[in-house]
Amino acid sequence: MRRLMKKITTLALIMSLFASAFAIASEVNIFNARHYKADGELYAKFTNKTGIKVNLINGKSGALEKRILEEGADSSADLYITADAGRCGAMDAKGALQGGLTSAAIKSAVPSSFRTSKWVGIAKRARIIYYSPERVTGAELSGMTYEGLADPKWKGRLVIRKSSNIYNKSLVASLIKNNGKAATAAWAEGVVANMARTPTGNDRAQIMAVAAGEADIAVANTYYLALMLSGKKGPEQQAAAKKVKAFFPNQNDRGTHMNVSCAALVKGAPNKANAVKLVEFLLTPESQEHFTNNTFEFPMIDGVSPSPLVVNNLGLDFKQDMKTKLASYGKNQAAAVEVMTAAGWK
Ligand SMILES: [Fe+2]
Repeated sequence: MRRLMKKITTLALIMSLFASAFAIASEVNIFNARHYKADGELYAKFTNKTGIKVNLINGKSGALEKRILEEGADSSADLYITADAGRCGAMDAKGALQGGLTSAAIKSAVPSSFRTSKWVGIAKRARIIYYSPERVTGAELSGMTYEGLADPKWKGRLVIRKSSNIYNKSLVASLIKNNGKAATAAWAEGVVANMARTPTGNDRAQIMAVAAGEADIAVANTYYLALMLSGKKGPEQQAAAKKVKAFFPNQNDRGTHMNVSCAALVKGAPNKANAVKLVEFLLTPESQEHFTNNTFEFPMIDGVSPSPLVVNNLGLDFKQDMKTKLASYGKNQAAAVEVMTAAGWK
């Protein structure tokens, strides 16, 4: 018996030496640009379940992207997790990603327009119109589209953030994909002519501007209204959010512009198999509920409900644009910046 124990102990020692020498210790390195406080709890759950240690490198998207690009093939990053398909697409265009997110679990969870082999959507959001019910009539909004934001009837009534913002780049890239660059260039000029002010502030600041009477309509992402209503951003923003209503554009044609938080597989990922496992975990109902309750995004998968704040104030019954591939946001990003800049969109 004692001899057997000794053998087992020796074997365990050899195995652990082998593991450290050949770095087969199970881990995964995430470069994370998302709302990281809440996401940290989720990664702890993954470790408990799989024994795979998650090394979380939190930072702003720009800094993380720079580091991944500088480290190149030697990058320690396995996954880059960020908001906006345009960012994942731009990293792909720079050659920073590799294929491999193609497991049956991923493909069955995520509709094809919301993923590529190199990055996949893990939570959804829509970029929509918010309006003042006091100053905007139902008739004015009837059949409203993104294209309609350039209609002169909105002159001096529209707020939207800067052209350097990734959400706007992706929205405009989707318009280029659907309507062509020339039509979108003309559209951007119309939008700039309709602006109530020079673009300033984040998405929540646009909603605040409508609440304050500075503008009648604003463009902002869905989860911000729920975040403001939750009170997490203070009573002033909560009160402002109650003064606006949400409108989902393009319901009579391709549907409302959708975007995602995405997880991208980095080229040279030292722990590729674990990275795939983590992405699969992020697409389970358990993880999806965690996202929807903490960030007020829409779930990426079927069968999970968004937060009640989203369901009650934004609704679920809208047509999503499932046709425009989100990969086009990265592909048309340079053209989007070009048309916005040419139009004088600050
Ligand atoms: Fe955001």
